[in-house]
Amino acid sequence: MSLAGKVALVTGGAQGIGRAAVQSLLKSSAKVAVVDLNKTVGEQCQNQLEAEFGEGRSTFIQCDVTHGDALRDAFQRTVDQFGRLDIVINNAGINNEKNWEKTIQVNLTSVIKGTYLALEHMSKEYGKEGGTIINVSSMAGNRWERGGSRIRQGPFIGPRASS
Ligand SMILES: NC(=O)c1ccc[n+]([C@@H]2O[C@H](COP(=O)([O-])OP(=O)(O)OC[C@H]3O[C@@H](n4cnc5c(N)ncnc54)[C@H](O)[C@@H]3O)[C@@H](O)[C@H]2O)c1
Repeated sequence: MSLAGKVALVTGGAQGIGRAAVQSLLKSSAKVAVVDLNKTVGEQCQNQLEAEFGEGRSTFIQCDVTHGDALRDAFQRTVDQFGRLDIVINNAGINNEKNWEKTIQVNLTSVIKGTYLALEHMSKEYGKEGGTIINVSSMAGNRWERGGSRIRQGPFIGPRASS
C-alpha cells in the first residue's frame, strides 16, 4: 500500500516495535517523525533512516511523552516540518512494576494525551482531513487470568480511526 503524501508520528519510534513501524511507513513512502526519549538511540536511528531512505523523509524529535508540553510541541514540530499529519502511533511504553506510577504515566496517561493531540491535528471535528490512530498495548491489558479462567478486562486500547 502506498502512503505517499502521508505523514506519521511514532512515539517510542527509535527502537523495537516502534522502529519497525517507522521503517514500514518509510518503505510505503510516508514521511515520519520519530518521537523518543532516548537521544543517543534516536540520533543513531535517524542517521540510519537517512542512509536507507534519504534525507527529508524522517526526523527525530527527542521528547519524553510524559511531559505534556513537550508532547504537544512534538506534534506541532511534525506538522511544521512536514505540513500535515495523517497517522499517529502511540507506541512508547515501559514495563517497570516497581515504578508503577511512571509506568501508568507512560503506558496510559501519555497514550490518552497523544490520542487527543492526534485528534486535534487530524480530526474533521477540528477542520482536518481525518487520519488513523494506533495505540500500542499488550495482550495483558486485554485480559487477566484467575483460577485458570481468562476474564476480559476493559477497556482495551486498540486501533482507532479518527474522522
Ligand atoms: N516487546 C513485547 O513483547 C511487548 C509486549 C507487550 C507490549 N509491548 C508494547 O509495545 C510497545 C513497544 O515495545 P518494545 O518492546 O518495542 O519496547 P522498546 O523498549 O524496545 O522500545 C520502546 C521505546 O520507547 C521509548 N520510550 C520509553 N519511555 C519513553 C518516554 N517516556 N517518552 C518517549 N519515549 C519513550 C524508548 O526509548 C524506546 O525507544 C510498548 O508500548 C510496549 O508496552 C511490547
